[in-house]
Amino acid sequence: MSNSFLIFASILFAAFLGLTFVQITKVYDPEHHGDHHGKVVYGFPVPEFVTAGTEEAFVTPIAVRLADANPALGPKNASKCTTCHAFEQGGANKLGPALWGVVGKDIASADGFAYSGALAGIDGAWTAEALDGFLLKPKAWAPGTKMGFAGLKDEADRANLIAWMFQQADAPMALPEPSAEDLAAVAEQQASSEN
Ligand code: HEC
Repeated sequence: MSNSFLIFASILFAAFLGLTFVQITKVYDPEHHGDHHGKVVYGFPVPEFVTAGTEEAFVTPIAVRLADANPALGPKNASKCTTCHAFEQGGANKLGPALWGVVGKDIASADGFAYSGALAGIDGAWTAEALDGFLLKPKAWAPGTKMGFAGLKDEADRANLIAWMFQQADAPMALPEPSAEDLAAVAEQQASSEN
């Protein structure tokens, strides 16, 4: 046996060991902690599990949640914002921009407020959907934002707050109607959770 054959053979053997190791490595799938307690799958997580993970994170579209929202519960959540924001008519900029009439207004357009490049660089207006995304996780929705707020995790809390924010304006806009897509997404989610 020549030396180069031995080297080749040991590389093959090492590769074989590596593959075997990958196959016997147990991957614990934390996404399924709740309903499949202690479930262990072998090898890398297969695509089904990855998809199942995102399905579990289904968020009812904001237009659907707004239909059931209670704006009277808005101020309770807005109290988490008022160290930095004034919501009332004629309110001044504080650490964050004044928010009277923010719904429907261009993003990053309060007079005299120095926005981060991150927020200033986002086109469009504050729709219910944009607010829902931003308030869930400001730093994920607008990477680099200087809004120092972790986010409002609860879907209903965000809907109540946003429904109330719709009213904090000179000429309040109507709440958005759920689109056909929104309704289909909810129906599909309900059907799959009944299985
Ligand atoms: C610690 C201070 C702080 C808290 C708490 C905070 N914000 Fe902000 N917020 C800011 C700052 C600063 C900005 C500007 C962000 C930028 O320029 O990146 C901002 C921006 C915003 C904007 C964009 C306004 C515009 O003119 O485009 C909205 C909407 C908003 N905040 C809503 C809220 C709501 C609702 C809450 C409570 C659930 C909240 N914020 C909590 C500091 C805060």
